[in-house]
Parts: sequence; structure tokens; C-alpha cells
Amino acid sequence: MTEGRQSEAKRRLAQTMKAAVLVISAMALLGGIVTGCAKNASAPGGATNPGGAPGTETASAAEPLGDYVIMAWQSIGMKCTSDNDKYFSFHTPGNDFFAQVIKRGDPPVLVTDGIKLTYEAPENHNEPSKTINFWNYAKITLKKDIAPNTGKTGMAAEKGDFSLDKAKKAWTAIGIPVSPYNDDGKVDAYPMFTVRATDTANGKLLAETKMSAPVSGELGCYICHGGTPNRDGVGLSDATARDILADHDKNVGTNLLAEAEAGRPQYCLDCHGANNVSAPGKPDVLSMSAALHGKHAQYMQNGSIETCGLCHPSSAKGQVYCERDVHRGFGMDCMNCHGTLPEHAASVLMKQKDLPAAQKSLERLKPYLPEGFTEAKPRENWINQPDCLSCHTKDHTKASTKTTSYNQWITEKSHLFRFEKADNGDMMCAACHGSPHAIYPASEALGYSEINYQPETYQGFAGPIGANGHCTVCHLSEPADKNYHHKNQDQVFLPPQFANDPK
Ligand code: HEC
Ligand code: HEC
Ligand code: HEC
Ligand code: HEC
Ligand code: HEC
Ligand code: HEC
Ligand code: HEC
Repeated sequence: MTEGRQSEAKRRLAQTMKAAVLVISAMALLGGIVTGCAKNASAPGGATNPGGAPGTETASAAEPLGDYVIMAWQSIGMKCTSDNDKYFSFHTPGNDFFAQVIKRGDPPVLVTDGIKLTYEAPENHNEPSKTINFWNYAKITLKKDIAPNTGKTGMAAEKGDFSLDKAKKAWTAIGIPVSPYNDDGKVDAYPMFTVRATDTANGKLLAETKMSAPVSGELGCYICHGGTPNRDGVGLSDATARDILADHDKNVGTNLLAEAEAGRPQYCLDCHGANNVSAPGKPDVLSMSAALHGKHAQYMQNGSIETCGLCHPSSAKGQVYCERDVHRGFGMDCMNCHGTLPEHAASVLMKQKDLPAAQKSLERLKPYLPEGFTEAKPRENWINQPDCLSCHTKDHTKASTKTTSYNQWITEKSHLFRFEKADNGDMMCAACHGSPHAIYPASEALGYSEINYQPETYQGFAGPIGANGHCTVCHLSEPADKNYHHKNQDQVFLPPQFANDPK
């Protein structure tokens, strides 16, 4: 195909996608209304949720608790990998684990010494270098020799120790390399790691739990850039990667394809900055988020969860279903919290509005922004993210599905949900609520039946830990002050329906 015809085909494809996406969006909206009604009709406490969806209380599922409990979670809910480093790299492997260990009591105590905390991968998840080629190219892409099956920070894939973050009273294991496939090459986006606390004095096991290390290589780039995914809908094939580089070279005048074919694949973040890995990029070049979202928003303006799902691993037709939390169960999607794709793109572009490339991109997006939309608030990529309390208000009240958190971003990295702690004491939000996009209860569709392991084993149902009279997961008796960790902790938990789960 000539280049002209190829991009024409791409454009047509993008148009078809757009139409499809609009239909899906209408369906999602309906779904939202339907679930909203169902929710109002369900009994307080949700003890009789007929669908048996996650969140249903089945007291027998809880296991007897010992003297210690571990709350462990992955920091961002879904780690994405661009898994074909032979051509280029932007998301390198590395899952970040957090944990808090509690000695049960009146009051409970966060344990910061006298214990050792370890992680261990499931049996068939010990050798990521069998399935992803990051290590073959790290010397060129990251300019660093990294031993196979070891992360950028030296953590081993198979097992290792957490270290104490004193200020947070939390334990962290940063940069564990996890492959989106198991060692046999099967797609496995939610490997369950075991976390154990032992007494350093005598090696006695104090507590043990499981947490998922969500990871995905499900990138829909092939839908428009050609090629077929490597395995089962997941993985960036050589053909897709080549087309992406050829487009970049054609539009920008770079030489990325030839360089890759000569054995010198590029790290996109050397030029396009990204705050998640503190990559500064080049000062006069768009950030990765502004470049990717800004360029593509013109081809997929409106839409639904499926729009974001063209690149993020969130398509209901996919294998991974990344945004799978309680909010999806209430009929919400990415756009309730992040805005539509053009809005989302406009906000990061505004951060660099002095660059001609940003001005051009903003100009292209104008027709797709809602009527009356003047200017997006400049947003720093990976830092200015949705604030839970812009919908749930400062008192952690129930929210309306009509609210949005767009333009009401968290302003400091340290206050992102994943790093934030409760109003009093040192319990972190995610210890009781789970990872972002996997806020308990998360959907168990697609066979990920252990996704709510901790709340289910600790209190017998998947909801916020401590909900509906279960403060005794950590306290020995129900505390009188119900507003301690935050206000309204005793408001009733109502399980969502997950009527929009893929079948
Ligand atoms: C809905 C269709 C669609 C999807 C999905 C898609 N792209 Fe594109 N992409 C396009 C179109 C259309 C162009 C413009 C092609 C041209 O200019 O010839 C493009 C161009 C690009 C360019 C060149 C940008 C420039 O101007 O320098 C890059 C890089 C790129 N895409 C990367 C990606 C990556 C990475 C993914 C997956 C994460 C992806 N695309 C997914 C449609 C898509
Ligand atoms: C050598 C530096 C360099 C590298 C490496 C690089 N880019 Fe770019 N890219 C640019 C420049 C320069 C532009 C032009 C826009 C600008 O000035 O920011 C651009 C433009 C883009 C655009 C289009 C933005 C728009 O609004 O038109 C996308 C998308 C993009 N790059 C994605 C990527 C991806 C994905 C990779 C890795 C495969 C990559 N880039 C690697 C320098 C680079
Ligand atoms: C064309 C592919 C593509 C589409 C479509 C897309 N994204 Fe992204 N998104 C990416 C890539 C690639 C990154 C990683 C950028 C980086 O490395 O900084 C990213 C990063 C992000 C980030 C983190 C960086 C930031 O800006 O704060 C958020 C949030 C995000 N996307 C949300 C969304 C939402 C919401 C949608 C749908 C409205 C969406 N994306 C649609 C490709 C896409
Ligand atoms: C209920 C609100 C909500 C919904 C729905 C939602 N997000 Fe997010 N998103 C957040 C919050 C909050 C953060 C910041 C979390 C943190 O502290 O890391 C975030 C962060 C992100 C990030 C940056 C990585 C991270 O976790 O920090 C990406 C990428 C992203 N979201 C993509 C998406 C996509 C794609 C969808 C839909 C499939 C989606 N989000 C749906 C609230 C939401
Ligand atoms: C865009 C608005 C919005 C944002 C942002 C948002 N939520 Fe929600 N959330 C809702 C709505 C609407 C519901 C369903 C009604 C309800 O239960 O409040 C909900 C439900 C919940 C529930 C289930 C309550 C129950 O009884 O079933 C929890 C827990 C929750 N949200 C926590 C969070 C956390 C934690 C964050 C930040 C990571 C967050 N929400 C961000 C709107 C939002
Ligand atoms: C996951 C463990 C955990 C759960 C569940 C939990 N707490 Fe706590 N709580 C703690 C810890 C640990 C402390 C000690 C202060 C700190 O470090 O945060 C504490 C302290 C308190 C205190 C102050 C000390 C005291 O005992 O008077 C109150 C009050 C309290 N919690 C109320 C509650 C209520 C009400 C619930 C249920 C709605 C609850 N907590 C659920 C871990 C938990
Ligand atoms: C000790 C456990 C614990 C900690 C720590 C905790 N929460 Fe909660 N949270 C709960 C419980 C229990 C509820 C009440 C049940 C409910 O509302 O579904 C709740 C309710 C909420 C709700 C309201 C959900 C709804 O619509 O009903 C939001 C939003 C929320 N928490 C966010 C947070 C944020 C943000 C943090 C950190 C600043 C945090 N929580 C820390 C246990 C906790």
C-alpha cells in the first residue's frame, strides 16, 4: 500500500471506529441508568444481592483472623507494558507493591519493626524474560545493563523482601518485573502474589495474604496501525511497531524505524517526558501523554470506555478489563473521572501551551470539545489526576453518577490516592479500598475470581475493609468513634450490580 492509501484506510477505520464507539457509548449510558435504579431498589447493606455479584455478604467466606493482618496492594491498579522492545519502549516492566501490617488490638497498631515482609510470585510466573524481550534491549533503550528477571531497581521477579517506608508506616517493594504472560506464554493479567510477615526474632509466620500484580500488554494500536497481536489479543507485534515508527518518521522526520532495524530501538521517553518514571524528555517536545492523546483524539473524539480501550487495556472485548472496580459496577466509565478523550488531551496540552506543537494540536481538537468549552485547566501528566472527594465531597459521602472530577485534579503527587492516608492516624486509603481502578469490590468477570481476596477472606464480602460493622478486622471491638479514619465510615456499603460485565 502506498503511504497515502494506507493513511486513508486508517482514517476510514478511525471513522468506523468512531461510529461504533458512539453506539457503545449510548448503551453504556443506558446501562448506567439501569444500574442506578437497581441500586436504589436493593436492600440497605445489600445482604441479599440476588446476582451474587462481588460485594454480596457471605459471612462463611471469612477466615478466622489471627493476631496480625496484612493489607497489600499494587500502587496503580494496572501496570502496562509496551512489550516489544526490539522496536521501541515506553512502559518498561516494574510493579510497585505497597503493604501495611496491623497488629490487631484496641487500638490496633501499625507494625514497623520486628518483622520481615516478603513477596513470592505464583509458581508459573518466575521467569518474565521467557516471554518479554525487555532485557535483550535494556542496554540500548535504558542505557543500563539489567540482569534477566530482575527489575530496574534490582528486585527479583520470583521473590524478595519489602522495605519499610518509615514516614508512611508502610512497606514497599518497588519495581518487581512482572510479565503480562505466565512462563508458558499464556496471557495472565492478574497473577496472585503471596505476601508473608514473619517475626524476625524467631522466623515464625505471623500472617499471610495474597494480592494481584495486575499487568498488561493489551495495546489496541494494531486496530489502526495494522498487524496482529502476538498472543490472544495481547502484545505489540513487529508489524504494528514498524507501522507506528514509519508514521512517526514520516510526520516528524525522525529515523526511528531504520535505527530500530539496525539494532538501536529508541526509548520514546528520551524525547517525550513522563512523570510516572520521572523522565524529563526534551524540554521543547510534547510529553508522551500530550503527544499520544493529542494526536489521536482527532481520530476518536467521542465515545465510551471503548475509546480509551483502543489503547488502554480496558475494552470489554479484551482479555484484561483493567478498570474493573466498583465504579464500573455502578455504570461509570473512564470519562466520568478523566473527561472525554479530547478534554483529557486538551488538559495536558495546555500544560505546554507555549510549544507550537501543542498549539497545533489544540487547534485540531477544537471541533471535538463540548460547546461552551473554553480552556482546559493545565494538567501535569501522571500527577494531576482525579480526586475521589470531588465526587464524594470532603466528607466521603455517597456520590451521584452525574458528577465528574474533570478539572478538579489532585494537585500534588504526594496526595494522589495511591500515596494518601486517612484523615487521622496512618492507615492508607488503598489499604482499606484497594488499588485505583480496582477499588473494592472489583469485578470478578473473566475468571479473575481472586481479585477481592483480602476483603473476602478478612470480612466475608468484597467491600471497603471495615464496612458494615467490620471494624473488627483490625479492632478487637467495634470502636465508638465512627468518624476516626474519615467521616461517614459507618455509612452502609451498597454492592454494585456489575450489570455491564463482559459475558
Ligand atoms: C483508532 C485508530 C488508532 C489507534 C487505536 C492508534 N493509532 Fe496511532 N495513529 C492513527 C492515525 C490515523 C495516525 C496518523 C497516521 C498518519 O499521519 O499517516 C496515527 C499516528 C501515530 C503516530 C505518529 C504520530 C506523528 O504524527 O508523529 C504514532 C507514534 C502512533 N500513532 C502511535 C500509536 C500507538 C503507540 C498506539 C497504541 C497505544 C496507537 N497509535 C493507536 C490511528 C490510531
Ligand atoms: C528523537 C526524539 C523522539 C523520539 C525518540 C520519539 N519522538 Fe515522538 N516526536 C518527536 C518530536 C520532535 C515530535 C513533533 C512534535 C513535538 O515537537 O513535540 C514528535 C511527535 C510525536 C507524536 C505526534 C504529536 C502530535 O501532536 O502531532 C506522537 C504521537 C509521538 N511523537 C509519539 C512517539 C512515540 C510513541 C515514540 C516512541 C516510539 C516517539 N514519539 C519517539 C520526537 C521524538
Ligand atoms: C492512542 C492511544 C490512547 C488512547 C486512545 C488513550 N490513551 Fe491514555 N495513554 C496512552 C499512552 C501510550 C499512555 C502512556 C503515556 C506515558 O507514558 O506518559 C497513556 C497515559 C494515560 C494517563 C496517564 C498520563 C496522564 O495524562 O496523566 C491517563 C490518565 C490516561 N492515559 C487516560 C486515558 C483516558 C481516560 C482515555 C480515554 C478518554 C485514554 N487515556 C485514551 C495511550 C492512549
Ligand atoms: C472513579 C474514577 C475513575 C475512573 C472511572 C477511571 N479512573 Fe483512571 N484514575 C483515577 C484516579 C483517582 C487516578 C489516580 C490514582 C493514583 O493515585 O494513582 C487515576 C489514574 C489513571 C491513570 C494513571 C495511572 C495511575 O493509576 O495513576 C491512567 C492511565 C488512568 N487512570 C486511566 C483510566 C482509564 C483508561 C479508565 C477507563 C478504562 C479510567 N482511568 C477510569 C480515577 C478513575
Ligand atoms: C466522578 C465521580 C467519582 C469519583 C472521582 C470517585 N467516585 Fe466513588 N463513586 C461514585 C459514584 C457515583 C458511586 C456510586 C454511588 C455511591 O455509592 O456513592 C461511587 C461508589 C463508590 C464506592 C462504593 C460505595 C458503596 O456503598 O457501594 C466506593 C467505596 C467509592 N466510590 C470509593 C471511591 C474512591 C476511593 C475514589 C477515588 C479513588 C472514588 N470513589 C472516586 C463517584 C465517584
Ligand atoms: C485495616 C485495619 C483497620 C480497620 C478495618 C479499622 N481500623 Fe480503626 N484503626 C486502625 C489502626 C492501625 C489504628 C491506630 C491509628 C493509626 O495508626 O491509624 C486505628 C485507630 C482507630 C481509632 C482511634 C483509636 C481508638 O481505638 O479509639 C478509632 C476511633 C478507629 N480506629 C475507628 C475505626 C472504625 C469506626 C472502624 C470501622 C468503621 C475502623 N476503625 C476500622 C486500623 C483499622
Ligand atoms: C480503615 C479503613 C479505611 C481507610 C483507611 C479509608 N477508608 Fe474510605 N471507607 C471505609 C469504609 C468502611 C467506608 C464506608 C463504606 C462505604 O461507604 O461504602 C468508606 C467510605 C469511603 C467513601 C465513600 C464511598 C461511598 O460512596 O459510599 C470514599 C469516597 C472513601 N471511603 C474514600 C477514602 C479515601 C480517599 C481514603 C484516604 C484519604 C479512605 N477512604 C480511607 C474504610 C476506609
